[in-house]
Amino acid sequence: MYVCNCNGIREREVRAAIAAGASRPVEIFKACDGKVQCARCVCDMRQMLDEEREVLKYAAE
Ligand code: FES
Repeated sequence: MYVCNCNGIREREVRAAIAAGASRPVEIFKACDGKVQCARCVCDMRQMLDEEREVLKYAAE
């Protein structure tokens, strides 16, 4: 599934970028060799970042 249609960035690429240390959408774009265009995907990226933070939070408990 594509998260960013403008750059053709898939969900698994976003998750890989987050796992590699991206903590903001701009860092996800950089890791995926993309750049912000329409920015419609930024909310989805932020949601995925929040999900990963929640997972790490519960894993640490
Ligand atoms: S959908 Fe990602 S920049 Fe347009």
